[in-house]
Amino acid sequence: MSAHASSPATTYRVGPVSRELTRAAAAALHAPSFLNTQPWHWRITHDTALLYADRRRRLGILDPTGRLLVLSCGAALHHACVTLAADGVYFEVDALPSDGDPDLLAVVRHRGAAEPSTRAQRMRRAIHSRRSDRRPFADRPVPEPAIERLCVAARRTEARLQMVWARDLGDLARAAGEAADAQLADPEYRAELAAWIRSPGEGHDGVPVDTLAALGARPVPVRDFSAAGAAATITSRVDIADRQARYGIIVTDGDGQHDWLTAGVALSAVLLTASAEHLAASPMSDLVEHEVARGTLRRMLGGVGYPAIAVRIGVPAPGEPPHPAPRRPAAEVIEVIADEIVDPARGPADGRTDDGNRPPGVGPPAR
Ligand SMILES: Cc1cc2nc3c(=O)[nH]c(=O)nc-3n(C[C@H](O)[C@H](O)[C@H](O)COP(=O)(O)O)c2cc1C
Repeated sequence: MSAHASSPATTYRVGPVSRELTRAAAAALHAPSFLNTQPWHWRITHDTALLYADRRRRLGILDPTGRLLVLSCGAALHHACVTLAADGVYFEVDALPSDGDPDLLAVVRHRGAAEPSTRAQRMRRAIHSRRSDRRPFADRPVPEPAIERLCVAARRTEARLQMVWARDLGDLARAAGEAADAQLADPEYRAELAAWIRSPGEGHDGVPVDTLAALGARPVPVRDFSAAGAAATITSRVDIADRQARYGIIVTDGDGQHDWLTAGVALSAVLLTASAEHLAASPMSDLVEHEVARGTLRRMLGGVGYPAIAVRIGVPAPGEPPHPAPRRPAAEVIEVIADEIVDPARGPADGRTDDGNRPPGVGPPAR
């Protein structure tokens, strides 16, 4: 027997389980993220998807603790889980496994087949239609049952959605004003914001100017991107925009990494549900970036829990929805490690996959 014939053949194969996880990670590319930084990295090996924080994409001035980065990753995690549930995959999530890598935020394990969830399928459809809609809302009230469904969606996670009472709107407006005054006076803030604003069609990340709304009068001011030199293109046809807007606060029990990840999961659940309910919404993190504003939010909550992020919710204005913000290419964000299959019955190792491709490199995550 020749030496060649006796050595086992190694082939590489991306099996159906890895493919399902990869599809979920690809759907998670559409998750909302802070200034569209998309600060995540997926590593798929056989039946496991590892979600890493890409901390090179953290905003040093706006997000010094990384809270909004982890929150963004939580939204991506939820998008992936919705996709798996919609596809009829039974899976388990281990959040912040203590394996010594502080960037490893979650491990998703494929555990076989399950009945596809119709609720998840509805949410999955919303993954593609959802936008951060910064346009002034229509002058129509948000139906109360829809608001209740948003709260239920958040309650299915470990966080909750606390709607702001009408009596607290003055405080909320003051908090937004305080945050804006302090942030806009800071040249470093303006420079960092400007660095993430893009011309339409430019690049794979950042906030395109054609998704930004001109300021105008609003009872609760939204983040002023124009101070960073962005000429917003969406204008309001009403004197006072957002008169019927509702505001919710995602609240967590604590204020650590696990809570931030949970808040991102809840944010995604609320935004996808809002989209499925044909509502418009946009996150407002300026209210938690500035400590004084965050303190106001905490007082509004009666000191119970921690405000992770605020959401503005309304009936969408008539007309075309905002353009989709760009996304990073899947190949940059998702790393798939092929299964190595050793078959002693076959010829010498040729290092090819079963569909003729060279195997993806096995190594540390390219983050
Ligand atoms: C943690 C977090 C904070 C955000 N903060 C704001 C904000 O303060 N103002 C805003 O207009 N959009 C905010 N957004 C929305 C992002 O800018 C938006 O998700 C991103 O640009 C991608 O666009 P898309 O949501 O339309 O897909 C935030 C999103 C996340 C996840």
